Amino acid sequence: MLEVKALTKSFLSGSGEKRIILDQLELTVREGESVAIVGPSGSGKTTLLNMLGALDKPESGEILLDSEPVFNKNEKELAEFRNRSIGFVFQLHHLLPQLNLEENVLLPVMAQQKKVNENQQERADMLIKKLGIGSLKGQKPGQLSGGECQRTAVARALINQPKILLADEPTGALDQHSAEQLADLLLQLNKEEQVSLIVVTHSMALAAKMDKIYQLIDGKLKLAAS
Ligand SMILES: Nc1ncnc2c1ncn2[C@@H]1O[C@H](COP(=O)(O)OP(=O)(O)OP(=O)(O)O)[C@@H](O)[C@H]1O
Ligand SMILES: [Mg+2]
Repeated sequence: MLEVKALTKSFLSGSGEKRIILDQLELTVREGESVAIVGPSGSGKTTLLNMLGALDKPESGEILLDSEPVFNKNEKELAEFRNRSIGFVFQLHHLLPQLNLEENVLLPVMAQQKKVNENQQERADMLIKKLGIGSLKGQKPGQLSGGECQRTAVARALINQPKILLADEPTGALDQHSAEQLADLLLQLNKEEQVSLIVVTHSMALAAKMDKIYQLIDGKLKLAAS
């Protein structure tokens, strides 16, 4: 279970003024739950996701994963935590252009060890197949469509069996059909793998598919639908 307690973050504006973006924000996400976070541009959705993924530190407040405080760790432990426990999918896929689809999926494994073991290879094959990109394994990102790149990014995010899958506008750059396809795959994997799914989106169609919808307003999350 993910617990966010009194999370606060502010930035200095150009004129040196302090702007509070997240204000004592609270959130609980159960194992296997799917959650959408919506809100206007600039409301702090990406700022929040970056902290949930331990990419950025809060000013005050806490994030606990299975009762363990995330930010008690040193930099090395944090990097390992991110690699093992968190999967990220961004609006743009961030695949490495010089690696093929399969190598991109296995990249988080290679970050930890020199060789891919049999189980990890099987898991990569399974995810790639489930995501419907099995016939494209050897192709490089430049030879894939936007939707295929996003599906590759989802497989990569799940390769280490994370507890949490964070997605920031994952369908934002896709046409409607590919967006719907990706949304359905995300939810299918969320249920099958019991990975908690937290999706930031401007798409009400995508948000409506999740167990809960929260709106980020004035630095806090407000339950909009469940
Ligand atoms: N590193 C930073 N330094 C200063 N201000 C920042 C920084 N990162 C974000 N901000 C500001 O914090 C606010 C929230 O930004 P954030 O990217 O979280 O918004 P968002 O809700 O994700 O918006 P969008 O829907 O456009 O992606 C914005 O006003 C932004 O300018
Ligand atoms: Mg954003």
